[in-house]
Amino acid sequence: MAVDDRPIFVVKGLCVEARSDGRPLNLVDDFNISLSKGEVLGLVGETGAGKSLSMRASVGLLPPAIRAASGSIYFGGRSCSAGETRALRSHLGRGICLLLQNGRSALNPFMRVHAQIDRILSYRGHARQDRRSAIDALLESVGLPSQEIGTRYPHELSGGQAQRVAMTIALASEPLVLIADEPTTALDVTTERDVIQLLLSLCRQRDMSLVLITHNLGLVANNCDRVAIMHAGHVVEIGPTASIFKAPQHPYTLSLLQAIPDVDEPRELIPLTGSSPRPGAFGDGCRFATRCPHVDTDCKARVPDLIAVGDRLVRCVIPKRSKVGTVPGMKREHQAKWPAQSATP
Ligand SMILES: Nc1ncnc2c1ncn2[C@@H]1O[C@H](COP(=O)(O)OP(=O)(O)O)[C@@H](O)[C@H]1O
Ligand code: SF4
Ligand SMILES: [Mg+2]
Repeated sequence: MAVDDRPIFVVKGLCVEARSDGRPLNLVDDFNISLSKGEVLGLVGETGAGKSLSMRASVGLLPPAIRAASGSIYFGGRSCSAGETRALRSHLGRGICLLLQNGRSALNPFMRVHAQIDRILSYRGHARQDRRSAIDALLESVGLPSQEIGTRYPHELSGGQAQRVAMTIALASEPLVLIADEPTTALDVTTERDVIQLLLSLCRQRDMSLVLITHNLGLVANNCDRVAIMHAGHVVEIGPTASIFKAPQHPYTLSLLQAIPDVDEPRELIPLTGSSPRPGAFGDGCRFATRCPHVDTDCKARVPDLIAVGDRLVRCVIPKRSKVGTVPGMKREHQAKWPAQSATP
């Protein structure tokens, strides 16, 4: 299904913080994404980068003691402050659904599968006499035999079945946007592939937009229209997947890509060195500075702005420094040659 370019879900200037010793502790800073109808956006980065909290804040579902200090969320034609979680949740309604790592945790342990789906359809206003056939169709769409699975409790399901039932429950709400937070982490490799393929094909069939949080860069390369790379609470690069994978502009993106094997073009793998600074130790400048081979004094003075470099946004001083937007150390044929522009995110 073609992607309609108009954004339907936009997160702008989102900052998320915790309280530590009575003081605010920044966890996510200046997070911006937009999503068009039918678009698949991959959100990647190391553990602790802020992927889950950014998306949870975007739908008003943060854990206790964590809050959105600023930011606005646009959905359904109007914006809502990210800090007003109750108003935000009611504004988003069932238009946006969150699918978590462990499907079983989203299920009510005391209700059989049929009853759980029935409850959602009832909220959605489906007439009682139509609901059973709708449940059968939904379970069938995720490849589960309704007759057999419907009478089970969550603890009687395998990990893959529980994730499929969680998907069914998300789909029963008929959301326009689905946020899937590492939906297959708890599953074995074969089930993971099946569940992801199913998720993507359901999104395509329903023209649903998807934010896919994952560690699997191969999955992103093959299935996401755009990708956002996060490091230490910042989006450091966001744009079309194909061009970012071909010519990354942020040194962190380059390091991530150099650390994974390429089956088409076998090459030496370069492991990612160092670790991300922890919240509270981000410092004043670029949060990648302690790991970056190209760091200089500019980088430490202040957090680099997100600037437009060709078809994407990059949070790094290199494009401005070099004027041609290239990352030193990349193969010449992989370097993008776009002039850097000063930009608004
Ligand atoms: N409930 C919490 N209380 C305090 N800090 C948290 C909490 N949840 C996450 N964090 C911290 O916020 C940062 C971002 O976490 P998270 O969004 O879960 O990362 P990711 O999903 O990218 O692995 C991490 O440093 C993590 O330790
Ligand atoms: S701003 Fe400086 S330290 Fe940060 S990624 Fe770019 S070159 Fe490296
Ligand atoms: Mg996470």
